[in-house]
Amino acid sequence: MQSKKWWKEAIVYQIYPRSFLDSNSDGIGDLQGIIKKLDYIHDLGATVIWLCPVYDSPNADNGYDIRDYHAIMKEFGTIEDFDKLLSIAHQKGLKIVMDLVVNHTSDEHKWFRKSRQNQENEYHNYYIWKDGKNKAAPNNWGAVFGGPAWKYDKSAKQYYLHLFAEKQPDLNWENEKVRHGVYDMMSWWLEKGVDGFRMDVINAISKDQRFPDGEVQPGQKYGNSWNYVSNGPRIHEFLQEMNREVLSKYDIMTVGETSGITTEDALKYAGFDRNELNMVFQFEHVELGSDENGKWNDKPVPIPELKKIITRWQTGLDRKAWNSLYLGNHDQPRSVSRFGSDGKYREQSAKLLATLLFTLQGTPYIYQGEEIGMTNVPFQTIDQYRDIETLNTYRKLSAQYPQDPARVMRYIRAKSRDNARTPMQWDSSPHAGFSSVKPWISENPNYPEINVEKSLSDPHSVYHFYQKMIQLRKAYPALIYGTFLPFGEEESKTFCYQRQWKDQTLLILLNFSEGNASVPIPKAIAQRNRKLLISNDSTRADQTLSQSITLQPFEGNVYLLG
Ligand code: NOJ
Repeated sequence: MQSKKWWKEAIVYQIYPRSFLDSNSDGIGDLQGIIKKLDYIHDLGATVIWLCPVYDSPNADNGYDIRDYHAIMKEFGTIEDFDKLLSIAHQKGLKIVMDLVVNHTSDEHKWFRKSRQNQENEYHNYYIWKDGKNKAAPNNWGAVFGGPAWKYDKSAKQYYLHLFAEKQPDLNWENEKVRHGVYDMMSWWLEKGVDGFRMDVINAISKDQRFPDGEVQPGQKYGNSWNYVSNGPRIHEFLQEMNREVLSKYDIMTVGETSGITTEDALKYAGFDRNELNMVFQFEHVELGSDENGKWNDKPVPIPELKKIITRWQTGLDRKAWNSLYLGNHDQPRSVSRFGSDGKYREQSAKLLATLLFTLQGTPYIYQGEEIGMTNVPFQTIDQYRDIETLNTYRKLSAQYPQDPARVMRYIRAKSRDNARTPMQWDSSPHAGFSSVKPWISENPNYPEINVEKSLSDPHSVYHFYQKMIQLRKAYPALIYGTFLPFGEEESKTFCYQRQWKDQTLLILLNFSEGNASVPIPKAIAQRNRKLLISNDSTRADQTLSQSITLQPFEGNVYLLG
C-alpha cells in the first residue's frame, strides 16, 4: 500500500527564468516576471514550481555555473524579489523547489578563486586537482560539453576536473568541509522557507578515486568518464549524510537528476526505506535513439521501446519508490516535437502526451510552454543558437561531416537544448509578449499561432486540456496512487493500461500514431461498465468500448470502470 505524501500528489511546473517573462525590458526573464504569472500557474492546477537556477552566475551555462549560492543573478532581480516571490507563491498555495547545483560551481566562486591560487591553501582541496601524466592531462576523460574534462591551471600548477564546461570545476565531495559547506547553504535556503530541491547531476558527486582512463568510442577523441563518476563508491553515504544533516529536518520535496540509472539504481536513491531522496529523474525515455553521436541525430522515437521503458519504470518502482514523470525540460527538445507531432496533429498529440503524463504513477512535471503545445524552433543558422553545448557540438559535428552542413543543422535543430529555451509565448504581440525588446534568444516564429492568450480563450485548447487532466488526477486517487497494469504490450502504435487503487479502476487507451489504430480490449475489461472521463477526440462517445476499439490519430481516452 502506498503511503500518502504531498509531494506524490504534487503537479510541478518547471520555470526556466531566463525565458519566462521579462518585466524590466532587458530582454531577459526575471523574478518579477514570474510573480506576475503566479496566478496563471495556479489556475493551470500546478502546486509546485521548480525554479531553474536563479543564483548569481557569470552564465557560462545559463546559471548552472554558480558564483554565489546566497545571491540572486543580477539580471533576475534581488534577494528581496526572491523573498517576495516565495511569500506570494505561498499565499497562493504554490510551493517553490530550488535547483541545487553542487556537483560543480563556477570558476568565479570564491572557493575556486582561492583553490586555484596554490596547492597549500585550505581551499585547494575543495576541488579535484591532479598532476598531469607525461606532460598531459591526468586521464583521457572528455567533458560533457566537448573537449577534455581537465584544464591546466598555471597558478595551481595542476589540472582541475570539470565534467561540464571549463568554467564549471567539480567540487571535491571527498572533502568533509565541502559537504558541510553545501549542507549549510541548503539549510540557509530551507530556513528561508523554500520547499525542496531538484538536485543537478547528483549521481556524479562521488568519483572513483582511481580516476582511470575511460573507454574511447570509435571516432571519438576522449574517453567516457561516466562509469567512473556516476553512482560512485560513496554516493549513498553522501546522500544519507545530506538527508540526516539537512533534508530530514524539513517537510520538503527532493528530486535528483540522475542520468544513466536503471530501476535498480533508482531504488537505492529513492527507495522508501533509504533515507536519501524522494524521487529521481531517469533518462531512458529521453535518451531513446542515441547512437555513436550520442543524442545528436534526428531519428524518430520508437514507440514500442518507449512503452517498454515506461512499463519497466512503472512496475519496477511500484510500492518501493516513486517515479518522476516528464517528457521535456530545459535540456530536452519540446515534447510535442519529439514524442508527438508538431505539424497537423500538434494539438491532438500534445493532448495525448498530457493524457500519458497525468495518468502514470509518479509526480508529473510540466515544462513551461508544454501546456500550450510549444514546439521546437526552426532556427536556420548556428548564430541563432546560444547554448554552450549546442555551439560546441556544432563545431564537433561540422568537423566530422565537412561535406554535409545540412545534416549537422538537422541534428542541431532536432536536439539542441535551445528548443526549450526560446521565450515563453504569451501573446501575439512583438516578441511573443515575453519582452518589449529583442530577447536574449529569438522567439519561435510560430508565436502568433501558438500562445497563452489564444490558448486561454479557446475552451478546446491544449491549455484547457492540461487543466482538465490535472483536475481529473486530483479527483481520482487511482491516477496518483494506483498500480499500473499494462495490456496489449505487443501493439506497436498504441499504449494501454489500467490504474487500480482500492476499488477504483481507470482504463487508459492511447494511440501514438498518425493513423487510425485498433486496440484489442481483453474480455475481462470489455465486460465491465465504463464511463468516459476525458478524451482528446470530441466525437468519442461513452458507449463504444467493446472487445476492440479503433482510435483516431493520436487519440487518448481515460475511462472509469465500474
Ligand atoms: C544538468 C542541467 O539540467 C543542465 O542544464 C546543465 O547544463 C548541467 N546539468 C550542468 O550543470
